[in-house]
Amino acid sequence: EKGGYRHFMLKEIYEQPRALADTIAGRALVEEGDVYLEDLDLDDAQLAGLEKIFIIACGTSWHAGLVGKFYLEKIARVPVEIDIASEFRYRDPIIPANSLTILVSQSGETADTLAALREAHGKGGKTLCICNVVDSSIARESDGIIYTHAGPEIGVASTKAFTTQLVALYLLALKLGRIRRSLSAADCQARLADLLELPRKLEETLELDAEIEELAREFVNARDFLYLGRGNLYPIALEGALKLKEISYIHAEGYPAGEMKHGPIALIDEDLPVVVLVPRNSTYDKVVSNMEEVCARGGQVIAVVSGDDEELLDKVAALISVPTVDEDLLPIITSVPMQLLAYYIAVLKGTDVDQPRNLAKSVTVE
Ligand code: M6R
Repeated sequence: EKGGYRHFMLKEIYEQPRALADTIAGRALVEEGDVYLEDLDLDDAQLAGLEKIFIIACGTSWHAGLVGKFYLEKIARVPVEIDIASEFRYRDPIIPANSLTILVSQSGETADTLAALREAHGKGGKTLCICNVVDSSIARESDGIIYTHAGPEIGVASTKAFTTQLVALYLLALKLGRIRRSLSAADCQARLADLLELPRKLEETLELDAEIEELAREFVNARDFLYLGRGNLYPIALEGALKLKEISYIHAEGYPAGEMKHGPIALIDEDLPVVVLVPRNSTYDKVVSNMEEVCARGGQVIAVVSGDDEELLDKVAALISVPTVDEDLLPIITSVPMQLLAYYIAVLKGTDVDQPRNLAKSVTVE
């Protein structure tokens, strides 16, 4: 049932090109420059009139929501507030009439996310879930649904569910962008063409496997890890750190690269591996200078870059090179090396990768 893979987690990492293609299939209307989402339960006038979106989730799904905020604000120009379900549900949130609350959940059974959905409903808000399990509690109670077609995810550490959630949020942003006229049909066409290329690019990214397994050997004895990213890659820094924590039991923190100098830089020494997400995008120069501050203090930088970034080669301890994609798709592509690095470190440590201690696949109690 693991299809020849040693763990479900590795199998699921490898299933991502297929999972992404299935999540996009039938929804990308390339010729029209539009997106079809079958079960939104909101008509175009309601979507055009949205004044605010809330995104609520837990864990990895919350990280997907953080990227979703970038997509929706940038492409559809709707203000987005994002919160962790266990926080949102107890803070008596203010839900305006023309708002939409999006619940993101792989399992559709997470207790706090379900309670947040009920809270939003109770206050008269419209709800939409992004969910992987058909007919789950959250799917049943939400007004609208965008299913991710990742297929069953068995490993406790979420991988393919996360990257398909990012695709679902991206598709929603494109759809809203078209309806609200902040995105032209031509731009939408170009974005969809790039999106359709993504499964193949992910296939290419998976070829990093052997190289990352090797890298894991170098860093397996570290006591702590720091992950840095900016903009839409800050959530990927958080996700990289969470993956490492949950399956290898190594302490790891994700941080916005620009916040380093406000405290965490004090932690840097020769024993601290720092994963820096620094592919070519609009904040490239800023992140390079954040990275140089780490290098100057002896930190061991593992840089995730696009293509062969030779400029950085002699500055860092290791370079992981991902295929070049549009900057809005970088969160998806850079997730893969985050997953593989955590996976191989955990395997070397001999932990129970698919069933890490103290964790459950779906957290149905609060
Ligand atoms: O099923 P959900 O997406 O609602 O689950 C949310 C979190 O419990 C989940 O993402 C958790 O953080 C994972 N173990 C992360 O790998």
